[in-house]
Amino acid sequence: MSLPILTSARGWPSVLLARVGVDAAGGIEAAEQAGAWVAYQNAVASLTPDAVISIISESGLRGRGGSGYPAGDKWRDCATRSESQRYVVANGFEADPGAQIDRTLMELDPHAVVEGVAIAAWAVRAGSAYIVVRASAVRAAERLRAAIAAAEERGYIGSVAAETGRPLTIEVREINGTFAAGEETVLLRALENRRAQPDQRPPFPSQRGLWGKPTVVNNVKTLAAVPWIISHGAGAYLSLGVREDPGTTLLQLGGTIRKPGIVEVPTGTSIRDVLDGPGGFVHGSLKAVLVGGPTGGFLPADALDTPITHAGLTEAGALAGSGTLLTLDEGACIVDLATLMTRFLNDESCGKTIPCRIGTRRMAELGAGFCSGRARPGDVQLLSDLSADVHDAALCGLEANASNPLLSGMRYFAAEFEQHIVGGICPAGVCQPIRAAALAPR
Ligand SMILES: Cc1cc2nc3c(=O)[nH]c(=O)nc-3n(C[C@H](O)[C@H](O)[C@H](O)COP(=O)(O)O)c2cc1C
Repeated sequence: MSLPILTSARGWPSVLLARVGVDAAGGIEAAEQAGAWVAYQNAVASLTPDAVISIISESGLRGRGGSGYPAGDKWRDCATRSESQRYVVANGFEADPGAQIDRTLMELDPHAVVEGVAIAAWAVRAGSAYIVVRASAVRAAERLRAAIAAAEERGYIGSVAAETGRPLTIEVREINGTFAAGEETVLLRALENRRAQPDQRPPFPSQRGLWGKPTVVNNVKTLAAVPWIISHGAGAYLSLGVREDPGTTLLQLGGTIRKPGIVEVPTGTSIRDVLDGPGGFVHGSLKAVLVGGPTGGFLPADALDTPITHAGLTEAGALAGSGTLLTLDEGACIVDLATLMTRFLNDESCGKTIPCRIGTRRMAELGAGFCSGRARPGDVQLLSDLSADVHDAALCGLEANASNPLLSGMRYFAAEFEQHIVGGICPAGVCQPIRAAALAPR
């Protein structure tokens, strides 16, 4: 079931959701009337690939798939490689369980994604592009395919566009996979039908990606912003949100929030403004917000003024990640939830590196020790040291960020961890056997 799109009463700008509702069936006429494909036609008619990349760089667009990497830099790196064959891959895998932002965008405005892919392909001179979705995102795949077919019929893309010197095939690929499959190098391997494990970076995909060729991998939200930027200009995008990380972003509100759903906000908006505005406040008291899914972090109620930017969230110990904000009330045990996240990450680890395979398991065991009364006073330090080791040895972002739930929990809810160890008490009453387990032989 799709989540509702939340409207903002504050007149926040709409880039990604501007056409939502217009094109629900993937019909190109309605989408075109609302402005679809104008940017692409203008780009190929009057802008050189290099000029397109310059506009994207000047706009300050950053990756919306969690990396926050400047899109223009990535495109330029790919475009300047000597190989003549290059690819664009739109990452719509949306690995975070429960997240529905990318799927919703692809279902409600498939043309924005397809047009963004086409512009990126023009910019880096790629002749083939792939949009990768989860195998379960059936409707999103259908809508994307309908949008691609309609754009081919118009002659914008496909082999018919060969007459204009810019043939471009865009394919939708459904893949199955674990949380790690959303990581870009894993995704590329999955596309190549190889074992889904990450590769060492560098070389980055923009240098050596799909089948060894330079490849731009961008999240579908990143690419969907591109037509708007080409149409409105780099300056217009730069003026939205905060200058160091401009534009808008999509968030998914869930948990104890009164109005769960998906909302578009300008970057730099505080978490508080999102929860109190479109979210319609939380039910009861707010204990914490889990920001960014399993590799994200827990922020306490007094950190709600944290701005939603990559830097702001990272500094606070969270991650933009998938864009999910899950509100938690006093009935939630942070120790228990952080442990659950860590165990999930251990389960989803592809196992390629020992620090990830064994380190995340040991972290989850230490977390479970707090929940069952087996933790010792030194375990907080042990967990911090182990987290640092796993982070430093990281091959991919799963490993690098696997300690975020426990570390952010220990940072902001230190007293709760302490109570689990010293008093043998779970204040939320979630870790029930804790007293009994505390007496059990070790
Ligand atoms: C474990 C893991 C899962 C990821 N899952 C996704 C995902 O589902 N979608 C996505 O766009 N990026 C995901 N990423 C980030 C990608 O590796 C990559 O940075 C991103 O697709 C690049 O696009 P962007 O520059 O537009 O953000 C994931 C990273 C990690 C470490």
